[in-house]
Amino acid sequence: MHKDVPDVIVGARKHAPLLVALGDEENFIASDTPAIIEYTKKTIYLEDNEIAVVTKDKLKITDIDGKEIIKKVEILPWEPAALSKQGFKHFMLKEIHEQPDVIRNVLNGKIYDIDAPVRLDEVKIDKEILKKLNKIQIIACGTSLHAALAGKYLIENFAGISVEVEASSEYIYRKTTTDSSTLVIGVSQSGETADTITAIKQAKEKKSHVLIITNRPDSNMARLADSLIPVNAGIEVSVAATKSYSAQLISFYLLSIYLAEIKGSLDKDYLKNIKHELIKIPSKIEEILSDIEPIKACAKSFSSYKNFIYISRGINLSTAYEGALKLKEISYINATGYAAGELKHGPIAMLDETMPVLAILIPGGVTYEKILSNCEEAKARNAKLIALTSSSDSNLESIFNVVIRIPSVSEILSPAITCVPLQLLAYYIAEFLGKDVDQPRNLAKSVTVE
Ligand code: M6R
Repeated sequence: MHKDVPDVIVGARKHAPLLVALGDEENFIASDTPAIIEYTKKTIYLEDNEIAVVTKDKLKITDIDGKEIIKKVEILPWEPAALSKQGFKHFMLKEIHEQPDVIRNVLNGKIYDIDAPVRLDEVKIDKEILKKLNKIQIIACGTSLHAALAGKYLIENFAGISVEVEASSEYIYRKTTTDSSTLVIGVSQSGETADTITAIKQAKEKKSHVLIITNRPDSNMARLADSLIPVNAGIEVSVAATKSYSAQLISFYLLSIYLAEIKGSLDKDYLKNIKHELIKIPSKIEEILSDIEPIKACAKSFSSYKNFIYISRGINLSTAYEGALKLKEISYINATGYAAGELKHGPIAMLDETMPVLAILIPGGVTYEKILSNCEEAKARNAKLIALTSSSDSNLESIFNVVIRIPSVSEILSPAITCVPLQLLAYYIAEFLGKDVDQPRNLAKSVTVE
C-alpha cells in the first residue's frame, strides 16, 4: 500500500500462499481462506510471480512482466458457520467433538458394504502397477508426520509393502532413493507446508507418482498431486490439529485396505472384520466424548507437572508421539513420546516422582504385557503413572495412579480412538493453566517457510 494511492492494495506471490477474494463492493487479499469466508466465497488463487492490484471494485492480475492474466474464480465449499465455535469455549474443543462426523464423512462412499472392496477411485495408479509396488515413501511434518507413521505400520502390516516415513525438512536436504517406481505420499492438513511442498516437487522431478492426503483440496500441494485424497474434515481453525489428524488416520486405513485388497495380501474374513470395526469407530469416539469427566479430573491433577513421558509400542507409538506433541503445543509443558521398550536404554534415568509417564496399552495384541512391564519399571522409579487403555482389568488401578478407559477396540484400529482422550487431556491441561488454546505462542496454522 502507498499513502499517495489510497484504496489500492498490491499483492505479489512468491513461495507462500496468496489469494484474492471478491466480495460485494469490497475485495480482499489474504494468505488463507479462513480470513475471508465470513465475507465471501469467491476466491482467486495466485501462483508464484503473479501480481494482483486490488481496489474495492476492481481487480487486475498480471504476470511479473505486467501482462494481464485472466484467472478462474473458485467458489469455496465452506459455510461461515464453520468459523463459529458453536457454543464451545474454544475451536479446538469443538473440532475434537466433530471427529465422529468427520470420520463418517471420510468413510462415506469408500466402504459401502463390508463384503465389497474399498472404493478409492482417487488413487490414479493402474491396479497392475499397484500389485507390483514395493516401495512407498511418506513425507510430512508435525501431526501429519504422526499420521504417516501410523500409515507406515498399516501399509506394511496389511499390504506388505515397504514404507519409509520422513520429516519433509529432512527429506529435502539429502540424497534420497526416490525414483519413478516409488509411490510418494505427501500428508498435510493445510496443503501449504513449505517443507512438504519442496519435498513433493523434488519427488516429481524424479518422476514418482505423488499422492497427496490433505484437508485442503484447494491448496498448492493438492494442485501438485497426481492422485489426491481429500480428507474432508472441514475447516480447522485451532492451530493444534485434531480432526484433520483423525481424518488422515482414517484415510490411511482406507488406503492400506485398498492396497491389501489389490495385492490379495489379507484373509477375507480378517478384512471384513476390520471394515466392520472401522465403521464403528465414530460411535466409540462418541462414547468417549459423552463422559469426559475422568479426563478432566486427570488433567486437573496433573496440570502442575513440568515434564511428561508418553509411551507405547507398535501402532500406538505414533499416538504417543502425537499426544505428547499436543500437550507441548498448547500447554508449553515438555512432553516426549518414546517407544516403551526404549525407556531402559536411557530415558529411564530421568524417572522420579516429578516425571509422570502416560502409557497407551491395548489388550488383545502383542504389546500389552510388554508395555505393562515397562510401566512397572517406571513405577519402581517412583514415576506417577497414567494408563490409557481399553482393558477392563481392575488390577490396573493398583499399578497406575489414573486409569483412563476407552471402549473395547482391536489394537490395530485403536489409534483412531486413543488419540481422542490425549487431545482432551492436552486441551484441559492447557485450559487449567489459562493458555491461549486456539492460538498457541510461536505457532501458525500453515507453516509456509522452510
Ligand atoms: O498443514 P500440515 O499438516 O502440513 O502442518 C504440519 C505441521 O506444521 C502441523 O501438523 C503442526 O505440527 C500442528 N500445529 C499440529 O498440531
